[in-house]
Amino acid sequence: MSEKLSKRIIEIAKAKSMNRTRRLRKSEGIRRLVRENQLTIDDFIYPLFVEEGKNIEKEIVSMPGIKRYSLDKIDKELDEVVALNLPAVLLFGIPSEKDEVGSETWNDNGVIQQAIRHIKTKYPSLYVITDVCFCEYTSHGHCGIIHENDVHNDDTLVNIAKQVVSHAKAGVDMVAPSGMMDGTIATIREALDHTGYGDLPIMGYSVKYASAFYGPFRDAADSSPSFGDRNTYQMDPANRDEGMREATFDDEEGADILMVKPALSYLDIIRDLKNTYDRPIACYNVSGEYAMVKAAAEKGWIDGERVMMESLLSMKRAGADIIITYFAKEVAKVLSRN
Ligand code: PBG
Repeated sequence: MSEKLSKRIIEIAKAKSMNRTRRLRKSEGIRRLVRENQLTIDDFIYPLFVEEGKNIEKEIVSMPGIKRYSLDKIDKELDEVVALNLPAVLLFGIPSEKDEVGSETWNDNGVIQQAIRHIKTKYPSLYVITDVCFCEYTSHGHCGIIHENDVHNDDTLVNIAKQVVSHAKAGVDMVAPSGMMDGTIATIREALDHTGYGDLPIMGYSVKYASAFYGPFRDAADSSPSFGDRNTYQMDPANRDEGMREATFDDEEGADILMVKPALSYLDIIRDLKNTYDRPIACYNVSGEYAMVKAAAEKGWIDGERVMMESLLSMKRAGADIIITYFAKEVAKVLSRN
């Protein structure tokens, strides 16, 4: 390159000295001052798998560090969650008996109802949210009642109402319906308001995609569909405008919190919701997203802790006020170290 060109480059650069963004990156002090987003322990919800039975503490192979517990074994996990000052858990139940309609979901003495009572009695400060669905409870693994090879929307709604009232009676703090039936939020609001639980909030899995990222979860929760897929009720990953429609319905029906799921491949949707709705926005950093980080870190291909922090931060930056993640305990440890 000619001497002349080098000089010209320097001249142009100097002329632009008002646009030097690196000035505010020079030291950790200034980087801290101008940092736009921070993760805090208060952002996180930790999912827990509770299996009916005794003496169960089963590692989930595709989700290293995550286990299924029976209630007699779960206290050491709950002790840790409370000691780390995590605000909330999201419960998934794995019943010992499944049937065509998932009737265990509204058994007042079912695995989830027992888990709610146990946690609220022994760990009253922990905020307990339940996933409201049927796929772990039905013999066919779909999220509702089957009519002619598909999940029947309105008949499923009736059972959702029974399920949430049963969770409410057991003392749950918030319910989170994940089945993607139309009219779910209106149904639940009506059911709760008419049974004396008008104060109980609803977190809608408002924009939930039919995603391959749920793979490890379905092992964890025994909830794979035995035929077909969930494409007739969960959303097409190609669709963005439809996500707004889903969220609008949930907003109008009175969902207190709107959720996007999965998180990482749907950061655009998180931002859409944040910009549009005057409600807290949650996202679900799902099992496959967790498994990918764990697997690559195990191979030594990435720094697992840094990738965890960076991807959770990206969800926050996209607009999530609340992040549901299997990393919650790990991230709490990192945050309390800093
Ligand atoms: C449905 C439900 C699923 C997840 C949360 N609730 C699975 C599904 O829709 O098939 C997935 C969570 C994850 O992958 O971590 N009850």
